[in-house]
Amino acid sequence: MTAKKYKRTLVTSALPYANGPLHLGHLAGVYVPSDIYVRYLRQQGRDVISICGSDEHGVPITLKARNEGISPQEVVDRYHEINKKAFEDFGISFDIYSRTSNQVHHETASEFFKTLHEKGVFLEKTSEQYYDQEADAFLADRYITGTCPHCGNPGAYGDQCEQCGTSLSPTDLINPVSTISGSQPVLKETKHWYLPLDKFEPWLQEWILKEHKEWKANVYGQCKSWLDQGLHPRAVSRDLDWGVPVPVEGADGKVLYVWFDAPIGYISATKELTPEWEKYWKDKETRLVHFIGKDNIVFHCIVFPTMLKAEGSYILPDNVPANEFLNLENDKISTSRNWAVWLHEYLEDFPGKQDVLRYVLCANAPENKDNDFTWKDFQNRNNNELVAILGNFVNRAIVLTDKYFEGRVPELTGLTDQDNATLEEIKTIALSVEQSLEQFRFREAIKTGMDLARLGNKYLADTEPWKLIKTDQERVKTILNISLQISANLTLLLDPFLPFSMEKLRGLLQFEGRAWDLIGKPDLLTAGHSLGKASLLFEKIEDEQIQAQLDKLDLTKEDNEKPAEVSPQKEEITFDDFTRMDLRVGTILEAEKVAKTKKLIKMRVELGFEVRTIVSGIAEYYEADTLPGRKVCVLANLAPRTIKGIESLGMILLSENPDGTLHFVEPSDEAVNGSEIN
Ligand code: MF3
Ligand code: ZN
Repeated sequence: MTAKKYKRTLVTSALPYANGPLHLGHLAGVYVPSDIYVRYLRQQGRDVISICGSDEHGVPITLKARNEGISPQEVVDRYHEINKKAFEDFGISFDIYSRTSNQVHHETASEFFKTLHEKGVFLEKTSEQYYDQEADAFLADRYITGTCPHCGNPGAYGDQCEQCGTSLSPTDLINPVSTISGSQPVLKETKHWYLPLDKFEPWLQEWILKEHKEWKANVYGQCKSWLDQGLHPRAVSRDLDWGVPVPVEGADGKVLYVWFDAPIGYISATKELTPEWEKYWKDKETRLVHFIGKDNIVFHCIVFPTMLKAEGSYILPDNVPANEFLNLENDKISTSRNWAVWLHEYLEDFPGKQDVLRYVLCANAPENKDNDFTWKDFQNRNNNELVAILGNFVNRAIVLTDKYFEGRVPELTGLTDQDNATLEEIKTIALSVEQSLEQFRFREAIKTGMDLARLGNKYLADTEPWKLIKTDQERVKTILNISLQISANLTLLLDPFLPFSMEKLRGLLQFEGRAWDLIGKPDLLTAGHSLGKASLLFEKIEDEQIQAQLDKLDLTKEDNEKPAEVSPQKEEITFDDFTRMDLRVGTILEAEKVAKTKKLIKMRVELGFEVRTIVSGIAEYYEADTLPGRKVCVLANLAPRTIKGIESLGMILLSENPDGTLHFVEPSDEAVNGSEIN
C-alpha cells in the first residue's frame, strides 16, 4: 500500500554493530536511502520518525573485546560514539540514535521475551553443545576452530569455513579447539528457548507471498525461497555472558540471542524518543518500514514479524526495502582486509563533500543487484553531473541576475510557449520523483530530480539571455525570472538527496521555503527579491585526488598479499645460557596505569615466594582494570630497573606481532604461582 493511505510512518534503519567503523557500503545499502525517504516525508509535512542506534550485543563484540583485552562495554562505547558522529557528519537525520546496551532496551527486550514465554510461544529444548572445561563456558560457534571436513582448512570456524565458504556447525569440525583456552571442548547438555517458526509458516505464506507481492523482487524472492525450503524452530537464547539475560528461572549464564534483542531495539529506541511510542508501534494507521541490507532480510521479513505477531499487540512491517551489496573497485568490501572506504577517512580527504558521496551512492545504489563503487565513476558523476549540470545551471542564473539586475529577481514580462511549457515541466518532474520515492526507487528518483537542472540548462541554452541582453532587456527579465524559479524549485526537490548543498543554495537565493507542495507554485521568488552572493555549489574533483585514493587501495592490496614479517632467529645460545634465566609463573594482583605515561602499567605480581612490583609497557593493548587475576610468565631474576621513578623487579613475558601489538604469554590455568618455566 502506498504511504499516503496511512496517518504516520515509522522508519527504521538496521542497527549497525558497534564493533567497527562505518564504510560507504553501509551508507549506500541502508542509510542514504532511508534518510532520503524520511527527509522527503518530512518535507511533505507527514508524521514520520526515523529510528536507529547501535547493535551492541553478539559474539563478534565479545571476541573483539577479548582480543584487545578490554571489556565488551568498552568496545561498544567506543564505536557507538564514532558511528553516531559519522551519521551526523553525513547528514543522516535520525530522530534518535540509541543503543542496545542501555537500560530501556534491556527492560523492553526482557519484557518482550517474558510475554512470549508466558503465552507459551517458545519451545524449550535441551541439546548437546561444545563446552570449554578450562574456561568453564559454553562455546559460541565462532569460538571454536578446527579442520574443515570439506576442504581440510585447519582454521575453519564452528559456523563457517572461510576458505571454501561452506557453512558448518561446530560438530562438523575435525579436532575442534576452543579459541578461549586452546583446549579440546567437550559436548555438554544445555537448555535453550526456540521460536517455532514452523508453526507460523502458513501465516507467513499468506502474509508475505499473497499480501505483499509489492515488495521489491530481491526481498520477495528471498522470502519465498526461505518459505519454500520450510522453516524450523530457531534458538533465541545463547550461553554467553554479554547480552540481555534470559528473564526466567533457571537461565543463569544465558542471554537472548542478539537477533532476538536487536530488532526490539527499534521499539526501545522509540520509547526513548517519545512517550507516544505506542502510537507508532500499535496503531494500525501507522506504516512501518524497515530499511536494511540483504543479509538482514530473513530477520526482518520472517523472524521479527513472527515475534511481533506472536506478541500480538504490535503492527507488522508494511515494506522492507532491502538493498543488495556495494562492491569497491570490483572487490567485495571487507573489514578484515581493510578493503573499504571508511566514512571518517572520506571526510578527511574530501572535507565538505558529503553530498557528493550521498549523490554517487544514491545514483549508483545496489538497488536490485550488487553494484560497484569506483573512484573514477565518483569523479565523473561529480564533474559531469553535479558540477556541469546542477552547479553550472544555478550559478549561471544567479551570476547573470547579479550582472544585469544587481542581484534582484527581475519581473515576468510576458510568457512564451516555451516558458509555459518549462514551468509546466517542473510539476511533471516533481510528480515523477514523488512516484519513484513512494516505490523506493531512489536511483530513478535522483536521476529524474536532476532532470530539473537539465531542464534549466536547456532553457538557458535555448534562450541565450547573454546574447539577448543587448537587444531585448525585457525578454531577459523573464528568462532569468524563470531560471531563478527553477533554482528555487531545485532546493525543494533535491533537498532529500543533497541536504548540505540545497541549504547552501537556499542561502544563495535567500529563499526559505521548505515544503514539498511549494514545488511548481508560481513566484517562489517574487520580483524585486534580493539574492545572496554568488558562490559555487560544487567543485571539480581533479585526477590527482582520485589517483591518491587508488594508490591508497593499492597499498592495501600489497599489505594483504604480503606475508606477515617474522624476524629472523637470533644468535645461538647454550643450554647454560638458558638456565641462567629464572622464569616463573605468577598472578597479577593489582594493576594501575602510570600517571602521565601512554604505555606504562605498574603491577603487583604474586610469584609464589614473594609479591613484586613490575612495570610493563602494555597500556596501549590492555586496560589496567582487566589485569588482576591474570596468570603471566615472569623473568624473575632480571636486574632491577627504575622506570619513571618506580623500581621494577622483573619482566613479564610478551609476544610481539609484526605490527607491534603485544600479547601476554599465558601459562596454563593449572600452573601454580612460583612454578618454574623450563
Ligand atoms: N547489526 C545487524 C547487522 O549489522 C543489524 C541489526 S538490525 C536489527 O547486520 F534489527 F536487528 F536491529
Ligand atoms: Zn572448507
